[in-house]
Amino acid sequence: MESPASPTPSKNRLTVIDQRTGKSYEIPITDGTVRAIDLRAIKNGADDFGLMVFDPAFTNTAACRSSVTFIDGDKGVLEYRGYPIEDLAEKSTYLETAYLLVFGELPTSKALCEWEEEIKLHTLIHENICNLIRAFRYDAHPMGIVVSTIAALSTYYPEAMRVQDPANRRLQIVRLIGKLPTIAAFAYRHSQGHRFTYPDNRLDYTGNFLSMLFNLQGRDHQPDPVLTRALDVLFVLHADHEQNCSTSAMRGVGSSLVDPYSAMSAATAALYGPLHGGANEAVLDMLVEIGSSKNIPAFLRSVKAGDRRLMGFGHRVYKNYDPRARIIKEIAYSVFEVTGRNPLLDIALELERIALQDEYFVSRKLYPNVDFYSGLIYQAMGFPTTMFPVLFAIGRTCGWLAQWNEMQQDSDTRIARPRQIYTGHPRRSYLPLDQRG
Ligand code: SDX
Repeated sequence: MESPASPTPSKNRLTVIDQRTGKSYEIPITDGTVRAIDLRAIKNGADDFGLMVFDPAFTNTAACRSSVTFIDGDKGVLEYRGYPIEDLAEKSTYLETAYLLVFGELPTSKALCEWEEEIKLHTLIHENICNLIRAFRYDAHPMGIVVSTIAALSTYYPEAMRVQDPANRRLQIVRLIGKLPTIAAFAYRHSQGHRFTYPDNRLDYTGNFLSMLFNLQGRDHQPDPVLTRALDVLFVLHADHEQNCSTSAMRGVGSSLVDPYSAMSAATAALYGPLHGGANEAVLDMLVEIGSSKNIPAFLRSVKAGDRRLMGFGHRVYKNYDPRARIIKEIAYSVFEVTGRNPLLDIALELERIALQDEYFVSRKLYPNVDFYSGLIYQAMGFPTTMFPVLFAIGRTCGWLAQWNEMQQDSDTRIARPRQIYTGHPRRSYLPLDQRG
């Protein structure tokens, strides 16, 4: 909007002068942002489209308003609905945290019991979905199975397309939180060539998951309480993380009003990537490749030469220690008391010690992130590296759904459709086949 002649601009405004035309504009500042659409008023002539913002990877773009998770990357702060992650990791459970993220408040004792029972009612999956999992190759990556199976669930619950019905949204949210561990466990069992162990709802959420994973016919696998608690806390730590890559996929796909199964399949696919949820798998592969602490200097030289990345280090938002990494490091010790110390831990600790003193990493504010130590714990608990991103997906399910649920109630929500800077050919005529070079 062009600047009016007289009034003194209020403090919450930008005054922009377009040097191309000499015109000045006042652009309102709200919540520390300017609305990109306000820049369209800045034109360089009557038929000019107006200014856009160019922000590949959205490094400085707020795509939505959300009250689910707060992160202060400089201070290493992470809060779910205002509660510090440190408190929730110490005092809460995954299902209680899932309730908090989805509904916005910690549940009363009655509400928590009802919520846990409701989730238990939805741990089973249709036998045809079991057969779909069995149809994958024996060596299919479990994450590929999980991505496909979540999408397939949309065909069993066609009513899930009624995304603007709150009761329907709640039912699909409960179904997905209930079924993810079953799908994950069955994907794992398929990769091991073992029959499926069906849900045992006498167990709690994470204990049931471990039972479905490791309870073989004829052997009564009682999940170790220390390992069950450690995995439950890891699910809490992975539950949400504001507008990360996979949550942005959930919101972007969900903005078309497709059902949540299809949207969450896209989110899970985003998490599959090595720069996102696949990082803890890549950390383990990196530690195995390093092999010994004496090889760390040479490895770090290759990182600093730009030949590779120090997986499990760095974060788009945290420019300080990822608070989750600190908690996970503490969990590692409790797990290793049960499973025995993972020899790769010593390499990881030495790698962290050296990197945190090295100017290359310090200057780039590269600290361990949530993935640096989690893989060591998962490996010690008996998970193959291919299951690591699957475990991440189980934890993140309630965060994806909480954000999706919030989006469906947000009056700002419209179908996501970014613009572009066109760099292709100017208009040209069709070239007949016999005239092409
Ligand atoms: C997760 O967004 C989330 O919230 C994600 C997550 C969640 O809970 O959802 O927290 C989970 O995905 C954690 C991140 C897991 N990924 C990794 O550990 C992979 C390794 N890390 C990086 O690839 C990287 O740090 C990212 C992808 C995590 C962040 O990348 P950015 O913010 O885009 O940083 P960048 O690529 O712009 O790098 C800035 C500089 C570059 O150096 P220069 O080009 O300026 O010389 O830092 C360097 C990068 O080369 N750099 C690294 C590095 N990460 C960044 N150099 C070596 N090793 C690294 N890991």
